[in-house]
Amino acid sequence: MHRDDFPMLEKDIIYFDNGATSLKPQVVIDKMNDYYTNYSANAHRGDYDISYQVDLEYENTRDLVKEFLNAKFKEEIVFTSGTTESLNMIASGFFAKLLETGDEILITNSEHASNVLPWFKLARTLGCVIKYIPLDDNLHVTLNNVKESISPRTKIISLAGVTNVIGDIRPIKEITKFAHEHDIFVVVDGAQSVPHLKTDVQDLDIDFLAFSGHKMLGPTGIGVLYGKKELLENLEPINLGGGMNESFDNENEVYLKDLPTKLEAGTPNISGVIGLGAAIKYLQEIGMDNIHEREVALRNYLIDKLVIIPYIDIINLEADSGIVAFNVDDIFSQDVAYYLNKYNICVRAGSHCAKILKNSTGVTNSIRISLYFYNTEKEIDTLVDLLKNKDKILKEMI
Ligand code: ALA
Repeated sequence: MHRDDFPMLEKDIIYFDNGATSLKPQVVIDKMNDYYTNYSANAHRGDYDISYQVDLEYENTRDLVKEFLNAKFKEEIVFTSGTTESLNMIASGFFAKLLETGDEILITNSEHASNVLPWFKLARTLGCVIKYIPLDDNLHVTLNNVKESISPRTKIISLAGVTNVIGDIRPIKEITKFAHEHDIFVVVDGAQSVPHLKTDVQDLDIDFLAFSGHKMLGPTGIGVLYGKKELLENLEPINLGGGMNESFDNENEVYLKDLPTKLEAGTPNISGVIGLGAAIKYLQEIGMDNIHEREVALRNYLIDKLVIIPYIDIINLEADSGIVAFNVDDIFSQDVAYYLNKYNICVRAGSHCAKILKNSTGVTNSIRISLYFYNTEKEIDTLVDLLKNKDKILKEMI
């Protein structure tokens, strides 16, 4: 599906590491090259034509993101360097002011480090308590388990929309409805969900959402922080500097600009923003529902083939995303990745930055296949053929 659009797919590789970063279509590369070649000026600062063109393209991406997420206001879209920066801004810029000692933050063992460590910091500095929503037998979050985990001190539920190893799709809409009935904020780490699923922030009623451009066909170093406008108004900028201030004087008086500019200090990642716009347009042309449907079909195809290999243990047998994590009995995951690399197959092995997941799975490391719509059944057949012969793996893994 659309493979001709991706120059990397002309190379002799099979790319199954889309959870780490996706490949980029030529239209994204061209759009960024066009900026650097034809109107390479700064944003929001110049009084000349090419600078004006930059402003138009930059703000056009903000409109595209607003539409893509069905956000209510353009001011709710803030450009950041990625999911990690967005989540740190949410924790340190918004919740650090709000939380008190003993307040509770609910997460799970299957969150990625970027949705764990900013909360650990609040626990350390403010004396907040991190609590873990138990996962069910399939390692999924259920509304019931959320209900049983809250207390009168619960202030935040922060969950990935889709987790990066288990690949489970969280019931965010049900969770936000319940959470808001109890005055609890919901933060969504959308790094693995926004690139693969339609995300309607109004319908889901998410308070804050974070995601990255590079996992959704865009460039690295660009991401988005979405927040409801009334909440973002109270998010204190972590970075202070040019572009975000209206004025300041020698008396330490600083007047900040309005949203979203006050949260985008310094020269932004202009080419990144422009490239992200091209990526979003491309995804919209294919359609997020079509993308999800294709990934589920590929996942089922892969699972059906892996499940019959007796020495393969699939960790996340039940999931509706393109993520499949498994181990080959008695072989270290990285050795399997090394073996597959000999055949130009790119997979990720290790803990995948989900370092407390082992407390729920009992498994420290795994091999992860993360699919995107441009993967094919033929690529999966090649992978499975290489995994079918354990003796060959053992012989060739070093
Ligand atoms: N968060 C990325 C992954 O899961 C890097 O691989």
